[in-house]
Amino acid sequence: MADIQTHEYDVLIIGAGGAGLSAAVVAAAAGVKVGVVCKSLLGKAHTVMAEGGVAAAMANVDDRDSWRVHFADTMRGGQYLNNPRMAELHAQEAPDRVRELEKWGALFDRTPDGRILQRNFGGHAYPRLAHVGDRTGLEMIRTLQDHGIHSGMEVHMEVTCTRLLKDGNRCTGVFAYDREKGRFRVFKAGAVVLATGGVGRAYEINSNSWEYTGDGHVLAYDAGAELQDMEFLQFHPTGMVWPPSVRGILVTEGVRGEGGVLRNKDGKRFMFDNIPDNYKAQTASDEEEGWRYTQGDKRARRPPELLTRDHVARMINREVKEGRGSPHGGVFLDIAWIKPRVPGGAEHIRKKLPGMYHQFKELAELDITEMPMEIGPTTHYMMGGVRVDADSQMSSVPGLFAAGECGAGLHGANRLGGNSLSDLLVFGQRAGQFAVEYAKKNGRGKVSEDEVKKASEAALAPFSRSGGKGENAFQIQGELQKMMQAKVGIIRSPGEVQEAIGEIAQLKKRGQAVVVEGNREYNPGWHTALDLHNLLTVSEAIARAALERKESRGAQTREDAPGKDPEWGKVNLIVKKGDDGQMQIRREPIAPMRPDLKAIIEEIG
Ligand code: FUM
Repeated sequence: MADIQTHEYDVLIIGAGGAGLSAAVVAAAAGVKVGVVCKSLLGKAHTVMAEGGVAAAMANVDDRDSWRVHFADTMRGGQYLNNPRMAELHAQEAPDRVRELEKWGALFDRTPDGRILQRNFGGHAYPRLAHVGDRTGLEMIRTLQDHGIHSGMEVHMEVTCTRLLKDGNRCTGVFAYDREKGRFRVFKAGAVVLATGGVGRAYEINSNSWEYTGDGHVLAYDAGAELQDMEFLQFHPTGMVWPPSVRGILVTEGVRGEGGVLRNKDGKRFMFDNIPDNYKAQTASDEEEGWRYTQGDKRARRPPELLTRDHVARMINREVKEGRGSPHGGVFLDIAWIKPRVPGGAEHIRKKLPGMYHQFKELAELDITEMPMEIGPTTHYMMGGVRVDADSQMSSVPGLFAAGECGAGLHGANRLGGNSLSDLLVFGQRAGQFAVEYAKKNGRGKVSEDEVKKASEAALAPFSRSGGKGENAFQIQGELQKMMQAKVGIIRSPGEVQEAIGEIAQLKKRGQAVVVEGNREYNPGWHTALDLHNLLTVSEAIARAALERKESRGAQTREDAPGKDPEWGKVNLIVKKGDDGQMQIRREPIAPMRPDLKAIIEEIG
């Protein structure tokens, strides 16, 4: 341990996106010593990719909204695989978390009478997304970061964690290295909160940046925690498709919330062709009614573009597969059509969607106030993650908590847009609170030198293998991304998923033979070699769960089993590392819903 830098905290938070910062702020306010470790620079987080707004039933725009409707919408969107207690807490607490952000300096758009403005999003019955133009996540991160820094948290930037350290069964810290110099670090802690975000980099087309390699998922899995719902990976319906260098970059659902419509190459609004039974009653029957809804007519019903993301992504996929797509393999998203219908015309669009206006102007040389955008699905968000207790966010490993995208339970089979930002505020804060409580009760833990030695040997292994026939980490990562995109994508066939599992096993073997040249300083080849373990592990979990769930529900669409099976509606799939080191999967029955919550679902539907 002599040349390893050691740090000690009561609460250590891994990840500095919205969930990590929310946990840090509340933990620091409780007066304990808080450390935050982030893989990248502070403020650079996938939270900023939730652009269109944060979902909270504040009823500022439509007074029919309430936490009960938000709860029912979230459960229906998740196809009832959600943890109802989490959905309840989330719907109840989100409005307070948004008001708290405002108190800390977040500048939300306003209604004419000065309240926080809320916009429509898919699957939400009423305008519910508090927003800052189309840069809501960015404003939230800015606010949380400023507030966190002033509340005393210590931040370690550009540090990657490779292994959780345990004292018996309890999590007591983490082994890490700094990406700049490659020096090892040990963080000892009373409690550890994982807030590392998602797994999008396992796929070729994604909205995530390089950090999102499933680190928290795999740190937890390797430490013996359970993962759940890993088959449910969200393909956001609208990512850029052209030019190729920007393929996958998010195009916010806020475009559709503001009246944007989807058309195929023939100009047809194909979303009217297929409305799922459980949304028929709320969906507009024609373009005019959909437009009136967008304009706040309370008697009108939602346009079909505001159906849930799983459905919209499937419909776009179908248009493209059946030859009705746009020139570059997407479909058209048109906001320009609203120009003659809104006061201010083009200026209105630029004001509501400034980020999208600039994004398309700069990256695609296209003016969205004049021309439709070309868009297609992009891997965006992992509904599955570390299985946690609903109230405290503690995993099955004592002292280990998880929140935000790397935790699971709230979203079930499909997440509603905007529920990610409210999720990370509500459960980030809860994780922070309960981590403080745990750390105070149990004190700072011990870490064993033996475990640290093993972690350091594993981290150095790619340097110690002989060169020559060694494998290249970037090559393996690229092959994995292409393969997952092709075989475990929006539509899944058991044959292809089975092949994917075989190919992941081969890639794992090759991963063991990766050789890294050079030394530990500024060495992206080494970083990628270490990330591979995480990418391959989450890919295996996704593929195994996708194969196991023999039905189509939410984000999982099985070619061989196109319908929902009521029996599968009663279980979550749990992934755990077996004693033999192999991945095990089991069905966990969903506990019966509390009668008062059930009554809400029965009443609201
Ligand atoms: O489309 C969006 O603005 C993304 C929001 C989200 O993922 O919640």
